[in-house]
Amino acid sequence: MIKQKEYAKRRMQLMRMAGEDSIIIVCAAPERIRNNDVHYPYRQDSDFLYLTGFREPEALLVMIPDKEGGQSILFCRDRDPEREMWDGPMAGLRGAVSEIGMDEAFAREEISRRLPPMLHDRERIYYDLGSNPVFDQRLIGWLNEFREKPRRTFHAPEEIHALDHMLHDLRLYKSRAELTVMKRSAQVAVTAHERAMQVCQPGMNESEIHAELLHTFTRNHCVPSYQAIVGGGANACILHYIANNAELRDGDLLLIDAGAEYDGYASDITRTFPVSGKYSPEQRDLYDVVLAAQLAAIEKARPGVPWQRVHDEAVHVATQGMIDLGILKLSLEQELEQEGYKHFYVHNTGHWLGLDVHDVGEYQIDGESRELEPGMVMTVEPGIYIPPNDTSVRKCFRGVGIRIEDDIVITKNAPLVLTGGLVKTADDIEALMAG
Ligand code: GLY
Ligand code: MN
Ligand code: MN
Repeated sequence: MIKQKEYAKRRMQLMRMAGEDSIIIVCAAPERIRNNDVHYPYRQDSDFLYLTGFREPEALLVMIPDKEGGQSILFCRDRDPEREMWDGPMAGLRGAVSEIGMDEAFAREEISRRLPPMLHDRERIYYDLGSNPVFDQRLIGWLNEFREKPRRTFHAPEEIHALDHMLHDLRLYKSRAELTVMKRSAQVAVTAHERAMQVCQPGMNESEIHAELLHTFTRNHCVPSYQAIVGGGANACILHYIANNAELRDGDLLLIDAGAEYDGYASDITRTFPVSGKYSPEQRDLYDVVLAAQLAAIEKARPGVPWQRVHDEAVHVATQGMIDLGILKLSLEQELEQEGYKHFYVHNTGHWLGLDVHDVGEYQIDGESRELEPGMVMTVEPGIYIPPNDTSVRKCFRGVGIRIEDDIVITKNAPLVLTGGLVKTADDIEALMAG
């Protein structure tokens, strides 16, 4: 669990970056209706969660920097026994101070009365316009009203700045406590993938394997960090396949891309293994190409290396491998130059990972690929997908999709593979499935 003190430190850092003459406002995620009287499971906005650890809807965080550091104020729902009978306990105003560590808390009904005066004498508002259209309107309405007041009685901010550049840069570098939580999230996903490999048999349905993943997540107090992909045979070539309802056939591979979310933090793992427990020689050949690409890319992921070079390394190794197997026909230089490999290697090799599975943080700085630094967490996930109807490729490869994905932390030396506990070589996967 991330401690109250760490949330306070994050707010302090952000307020220091924003400057004493500013004010920072962040909205909680709205609740969303799925259909009549039914909501989607509530998930707090990741920025809001990062700054507060507060998981209830209908809340607004206001941070007012000053010389001593600053003040954090939460507008939230006050406790209401009748509502708590339906929805369970709420922190309320007192809990917002004692459990969440706010300096002050007010009922959300007080926003219109209390927030506008807080804007007085502030030069800039940091707020992500567009994040909550209802609040956007209120904020702009207040600013328009201020403009009509005499300047000497009320000095309203002139500017609204996006908050995300500063905040998302903080979120990109994970603290020790965050890494502890992410290790747990990774471990639960590892266990879920192991179980999926162990129970898989020809004739089962993708849905049964999906259920095994959810079983492990739920038992371990996790939710899926995204909709799991359980794609047998050519379904593995559908990159966002989530139907997960086809029969698993002897001789096919099964691609599972599934991650857990623990205490808000995501893991994201992909493995591709034989439904029967044994790769065919050609499946194994292609598998080994993707694995070699992934290992080479992980090896490259060190401080000072531009993000893009990790991808380039994976592409390089995968392209040579596809040439060796006759899937690509030109020389390495020609394939790279003409980007022929993109026919089969269609996505990027990774992304930042954290509170969001595709976590925030810039990938480029001043038009250049960003250099990796210790504390960043990312996935490394090369994939090769041969369309089922591609007659330019030998039949044995058609409809085969293989991706291998792990989560890594950049350290001073070799990266730490958070998901390294999960079998990955063809031999190790076969051995686990045989056991
Ligand atoms: N599961 C989402 C991704 O791999 O990016
Ligand atoms: Mn991923
Ligand atoms: Mn994934």
